[in-house]
This record gives sequence, structure tokens and C-alpha cells, in this order.
Amino acid sequence: MSTGSAPVPVALQPEFVEDALRQFFESRAPIVTSVGGGYRDAVTALEAFVLRGGKRVRPSFAWTGWIGAGGDPAAPGADSVLRACSALELVQAGALIHDDIIDASTTRRGFATVHMEYADRHRSAGWRGDPADFGEAVAIILGDLSLVWADDMLRESGLDGAALARVSPVWSAMRTEVLGGQFLDIAGEVSADESVEAATRVNRYKTAAYTIERPLHIGAVLAGADDALVDAYRRFGTDIGLAFQLRDDLLGVFGDPEVTGKPSGDDLRAGKRTVLFAAALEAADATDRVAAAVLRDAIGSDLTDGQVEELRELLIGLGAVDRVEERITALTERAFETLDASSATDPGKALLRDAAVAATRRIA
Ligand code: IPE
Ligand code: IPE
Ligand code: MG
Ligand code: MG
Repeated sequence: MSTGSAPVPVALQPEFVEDALRQFFESRAPIVTSVGGGYRDAVTALEAFVLRGGKRVRPSFAWTGWIGAGGDPAAPGADSVLRACSALELVQAGALIHDDIIDASTTRRGFATVHMEYADRHRSAGWRGDPADFGEAVAIILGDLSLVWADDMLRESGLDGAALARVSPVWSAMRTEVLGGQFLDIAGEVSADESVEAATRVNRYKTAAYTIERPLHIGAVLAGADDALVDAYRRFGTDIGLAFQLRDDLLGVFGDPEVTGKPSGDDLRAGKRTVLFAAALEAADATDRVAAAVLRDAIGSDLTDGQVEELRELLIGLGAVDRVEERITALTERAFETLDASSATDPGKALLRDAAVAATRRIA
């Protein structure tokens, strides 16, 4: 990588993150090779998944948080910070690989999901047993590997003992929160709680915490920020993180799969209790009982493309899309007020503002 000696702080380029990740994978090659068998191929598939795209939102917020708290990209030690921030992409890869099993998703980042890819390999090779079971088993293992390697990459980032000690509780909290959020998400699919509040709680933990709030918190403690800045970052990060997930929910129903790299309509088919869906149900319960019955009947069933299209129209007609857009705007505005009032550096504020806009804007 090269953080160079730029006179002003720079937004983190995805290539820097990818270089750091590539180096980490290289560092693991000897042990992987010594295990032998098809392990190397499987790890190569994991590496391909990790390097094959993704917006690198989490490293970018962590890095930008560090800059906003006074971190200097031209100072010695910036490489270590970059590696620590990049390790977040291994948390992300593990979470996504497992999430795609949980959500039965077939595509991710424009390619087959890891469990689908390995089911295909099984089928093509004519191996014994069930291809889908094999695919899932491989994806569980690679997801685990990615999560444990994230910890290794952080620990070996080159951060000194004091910095590692500051990051460690934040990193731990982040991991526990994201898994808690994933748990609440699947529990929400099977329980009777249809409220916007329940869906928002899921979003807070399955997304906002590990995507923006905690990465910013990590960046802050790496720079030795005071409690007031940590608090402001966390409030900003929670609001932008919630807005980010609301955008993802809209894209999950209305987005162009060519742009998002993920299928459209799957949240409805999977029975996902998104804020978008909860808002539609709330409106339908108050004004249109037929629509409410249609929504309850449709969610979690094997919908045709035509049925998904009808549901899209219903979500718009019930005002749920407008309500979610308004919520994204309100959260973003509140986050900017928090940021403006914080003690983050001016260049940091400008970078965080840009990153927040990029994370929450309409893209498809
Ligand atoms: C997807 O995260 C999972 C969510 C929390 C919504 P991203 O939208 O950041 O996915 P990548 O890393 O860019 O693929
Ligand atoms: C993913 O949430 C959150 C994590 C991976 C922790 P979703 O299931 O809503 O995200 P997508 O839409 O599949 O990316
Ligand atoms: Mg999910
Ligand atoms: Mg999913």
C-alpha cells in the first residue's frame, strides 16, 4: 500500500484495503498448503469472494473516523491502522457468506453465493451426497474462517499493545452485536411482531452497529479520541447505519440486480420483516384491510416475478416507500447535525459527510 505523504487526509481507496487483504491471505498460504487436500482451493474461493468487490464501507468509515479524530495518514504507523481497518472486510465476508445461507440468497456481489458455488462444484464433479448440503457446509466453514481470520488480521496489524487494548472491547462488542442482530432478524421472521420498532431494532444491530457505528468507534479509539467524540461518532454512525439499511431494504425490493449484485424481491420471498414492509402493514391495517391481507399472505411465500411487481405497487400505493425515504432523510439530517456539533476535524467532517451520502443515496 501507499498512504504516501499527502498533505491533507485522503478518503480510503478500496485498492489499499484490497492490498492489505491480499497480503494477509499470502501470510496464511503456508499453513493452508500444509493442511492440503482441497483446502487450498476453498481458501482461494474465499479470497476471491473477499477481493471480488464490495463497497468497503466498513474499513472506509473506520479509517475516516480515525482521520476525523486526528489520525495522520502520512505518519508512521498509518499502515497498521489501515490493516486494522481492512480486517473489518473479513468480518463482513464471514457475515455475508453466512447471511446468504440464512437468507437462501443465490447471488452476492454479482456472482453466485459461496454455498451455491460449492453446490455447483459438487454437481459438476459428480461427488457423493447432496450438493446443496455440501455447498452449505463449505460456506459455513469459510464463513467461520473469515471471521476468525478477521481477529488474526487485527491482532497482527502492527498496532501497538496500547492501541490493541483500546480497540479490543469495541471489536468484541461489534461482533456480539452483529450476531445478535442476525438472530433478531430470523426471530422476527417467525414471530408475530410486525412493528416498525422491532424492524428498526433488528437494523440497529444487524447493520448499523457493525457497518458504521463501531467502525467509527474503532477509528476514534485508534486515534485516542475523547469520550465526547466517541459519543458523537456513535450517534452519527447509528443514524447513518440505520439509513444505510433502509436504503438496502428499498434496493432489495426495487433495486436493479445488475447494480446491487443481489436479487430483487428476495426479502419478500424470504419473509424478511423489513421497516419497509412493517410500514406498509401499518398503513394497510389502518386504511385498507384487503391490502393488509394480501401483504400478510404474500410475505414469506414463493412469489412469482409478477407477484413481486404487484407488491411493489402496493408498497408504493400505501405510502411505505415515501415513509422510508422520509426516514432516510430525517436520519441523515440528524446525523449531520451531530457531526457538525462534534469535535471531529474539518477534513474529517467533510469526508464523513461524503461517505454518509454515498452510503445512503438512491443508486438504482
Ligand atoms: C451488505 O452490506 C449487508 C448489509 C448490512 C446491508 P454492504 O452493502 O456493505 O455489502 P458489500 O460489502 O458492499 O458487498
Ligand atoms: C445482512 O443483512 C446483515 C449481515 C450480513 C450481518 P441483510 O440480509 O438484510 O443484507 P443483504 O440484503 O442480504 O445484503
Ligand atoms: Mg439477512
Ligand atoms: Mg441477506
